[in-house]
Amino acid sequence: MGVAVDLYNTISEFLQTADHTTLILLAIAVIGASTLLFKTKATSANEPPMVPYTIPLLGSAIPYGIDPIKFLQDCRAKYGDCFTFMMMGRKMTFCLGPDGNHFVFNVPIANASAEGAYRTLTVPVFGTEVVYDVHNSVFMEQKKFVKDTFTSDAFKKYVPLIWEESVEFFNTFPKKGTALIFKEMSELTIRTAAACLMGKEIRSQLHSNVAQLYHDLDRGLAPINVFFRWLPLPTYFARDRAHNLMTETFKKIIAERRKNNIEYTDVLSTLMKSEYKNGTKMSDDAIAHLMIATLMGGQHTSSTTTSWILFELARRPDVIEEIMKEQSMILTGKPDTPAKDLPQFDYEQLRKMEFLDCVMKETLRLHTPIHTVMRKVEKNVTYQGFEIPKGHFLCGSQAVSQFDPVRFPDPEKFEPSRFLNDTEGNGEWTINGVNIAQKSARSHFLPFGAGRHRCIGEAFAYVQIKTIIAIFLRQFSLQLVKDNENQLKFPKADYTSLIVVPEGESYIQFSRREE
Ligand code: HEM
Repeated sequence: MGVAVDLYNTISEFLQTADHTTLILLAIAVIGASTLLFKTKATSANEPPMVPYTIPLLGSAIPYGIDPIKFLQDCRAKYGDCFTFMMMGRKMTFCLGPDGNHFVFNVPIANASAEGAYRTLTVPVFGTEVVYDVHNSVFMEQKKFVKDTFTSDAFKKYVPLIWEESVEFFNTFPKKGTALIFKEMSELTIRTAAACLMGKEIRSQLHSNVAQLYHDLDRGLAPINVFFRWLPLPTYFARDRAHNLMTETFKKIIAERRKNNIEYTDVLSTLMKSEYKNGTKMSDDAIAHLMIATLMGGQHTSSTTTSWILFELARRPDVIEEIMKEQSMILTGKPDTPAKDLPQFDYEQLRKMEFLDCVMKETLRLHTPIHTVMRKVEKNVTYQGFEIPKGHFLCGSQAVSQFDPVRFPDPEKFEPSRFLNDTEGNGEWTINGVNIAQKSARSHFLPFGAGRHRCIGEAFAYVQIKTIIAIFLRQFSLQLVKDNENQLKFPKADYTSLIVVPEGESYIQFSRREE
């Protein structure tokens, strides 16, 4: 989380808009929080080691905010796999490595909850009656409803839709040029997700109000909002307005579909049919809110992954060659059919592109979109002899284990072939009938998480991202751009939002393959 940079932006914005009374209240709150902090600095002998800090309110927010993975790796080297640091008045206890991952992802909900950690941030954006606003057992059923949409039959329909959207989108690119790749991939991701999951009606409104509403909702998910939720910021008003308008938009579509008996292979139709185990159905508000949550859950995670794949490929022509060879073999039975002669592929053929799977996995290993997961400790828990008290934030970081040289030799290197014949990270995940809380998360590679909060969008993300990349590479060759010193520019990670994205102004140079 890029709390430090975000903090600066939020405070500047706030100072420009706040009146005197609000400023006085803020000053009182800061003094109060600092006093509280000094009180909480003492830890019991059994607690995990505390990373020292000097500025009371911030704690280690700045080094963690600037480069969380490096900060966690440094702390791990000094304090071991389990330690606590202070951040904005919160005690963050990390449990690292495969054992730490297993512990955090499978901690019983009575002991530590995702709701406690994420509720403040997400409820104003997603809305009530869903996700972290309801009891975890209800959310588990809601996750299953959404996941039920992702059948092979649905994917068979989605691949041509993603194909159509991508080709139309790339047709607007010139013969050669540079592109702000994350911006472009964000646009394509929302188009494809809307076409497949949100419904035709939402897709047709993307050019007008929906894109702006999405943007306002997205700003509401900035991590800093957790700490300053009581401030009267313009972004919060925009978020609330966008939430209401988006809910109304979905509710109108639901009413229209019901009236005209319309059913599509999208998440909206699945939710309209779904029933809880007790026989009740979701309210229209809840359906609308779960649609918003699904949209938000998949947007940045997928668009950043697609972008990082392209950045990695831009400096690895050998890997592009392998991908094209695989595509050619699967589609024509020959390794060297020119890109322009390759036919359109379908879902079954996409599934067979296993090297492309490895490219995506290796990208997720190096540029995992969610580097830290959090749970709020509700009842003291014990880990490796340490007592982690109620009120701490229990955190895991799959990003750290994904760089472990013991499991991934030469961990900084982009080497997709390391995942050939490697089944770690694969595996069917079910909620129904299986106590997923017991499922092992003792793994180094967990880009989609594990346990009861595991991602439901993994299969869709593979279909969406692989299709986009396969089409992009058929149409364009690509390279990194050069900086002022004539060096190839590979973007740094931007940790200021909830999801790790390539830093702004990161371009790729592309040119259309010969017609
Ligand atoms: C949960 C990663 C795409 C919906 C998660 C979690 C991770 C993750 C790490 C676990 C969070 C935690 O334990 O606190 C990713 C990555 C994606 C991706 C890397 C793409 C490359 C998607 C898509 C959707 C989606 C496309 C929706 C269609 C969800 C939902 C959860 C989740 C609903 C459950 C949250 C919970 O149970 O608390 N994702 N995700 N994700 N993801 Fe994804």
